[in-house]
Amino acid sequence: MDEHPDDVAAANRPAANIAASIPAAIAALPRFRLFDEPSPLHPLTRFSAALGGGADVWIKREDLLPLAFGGNKLRNLEFLVGAALAEETDALVTSGRRWSNHCRLTAAAGAKAGLAVHLVLSGPPVTPPGPNERLDRMLGAIVHVSATDARADREALVEEVVGSLRSAGHRPYLVPVGGSGAVGAAGQELAGLELAAQARSLGISPEAVILPSATGGTQAGVLVGLRLGGLATRLEGIAVASPPAELVPVIGRLLEGLEPLTGLRVDPAEIDLDGSHLGRAYGIPTSAASEAAELLARTEGILVDPIYTAKALAALIAGVRSGRLTGTVVFWHAGGTPGLFENLAGAAGT
Ligand SMILES: Cc1ncc(COP(=O)(O)O)c(C=O)c1O
Repeated sequence: MDEHPDDVAAANRPAANIAASIPAAIAALPRFRLFDEPSPLHPLTRFSAALGGGADVWIKREDLLPLAFGGNKLRNLEFLVGAALAEETDALVTSGRRWSNHCRLTAAAGAKAGLAVHLVLSGPPVTPPGPNERLDRMLGAIVHVSATDARADREALVEEVVGSLRSAGHRPYLVPVGGSGAVGAAGQELAGLELAAQARSLGISPEAVILPSATGGTQAGVLVGLRLGGLATRLEGIAVASPPAELVPVIGRLLEGLEPLTGLRVDPAEIDLDGSHLGRAYGIPTSAASEAAELLARTEGILVDPIYTAKALAALIAGVRSGRLTGTVVFWHAGGTPGLFENLAGAAGT
């Protein structure tokens, strides 16, 4: 298995940045910088060997983006916080499950930007609070927990929080669930461009990129970015929250929303979403995901979480073992590390 330490270091230097290839409409969007790109891309030599050497697996380390245990959602937040500041709002309001990485990173980004942050988490309240909720509070966010896990209850509480902020004379900025939507996905599009630039600089040409997909913003943005960067690589989303029948149309709409920003039409037929690793439900671990997490930890010393990334890694492992995935395959480590410490027993109802 080839490893290219000097080339890898060069491809990961900020000099390999993508400023020149960012579409003009995205470059013109307000952006609040939260990190210096690129996130590292490197080979997983011992992991690939443990899978029998049928594929050369690389990893894109979005988990190493620098704030609050890292994660891909910092990409969306650069543009969402940029918009919030440009619109002269003074508070970010967003929502998600209690283990939401997006909520934790919104708290971190808001702290860095000097904006108040209100997080509305699905209930019922958990005592003591789990690690993400504790981090949310530590980062200074005001946490509101809905009485039940029903989406409608959480949405009603979001309305209530926004309403009371407005009545108190504040100007809240509503960040969509998962930071998804065209503005957030624009950040993910830069991640796709970045991978294309790194691959070019390393002289590798990935057959496939495998990533976890929940609200679909990452998948839509990265897909557009890869194509803009001239990489025809297959992008395989692994559904971790809702089944493909629900998520594919959402990703289709995100692709349409990105079109005016990039000038690029991506054929919806390119949306590749695998629903076979979801397990019983969002947030419920699977045995294949646990095995995947242990294999990566024990061969490379890298940790993945049971809610998002381990399920995607399990899909990658299944693909390599069956001989379906060959050549260079990139695992998109989207972050989520605090999820390792969440109590997920009975997660479906929370
Ligand atoms: C670690 C991690 N991976 C993947 C995802 C899925 O990203 P998206 O919601 O853009 O599909 C999330 C979303 O919160 C996440 O936190």
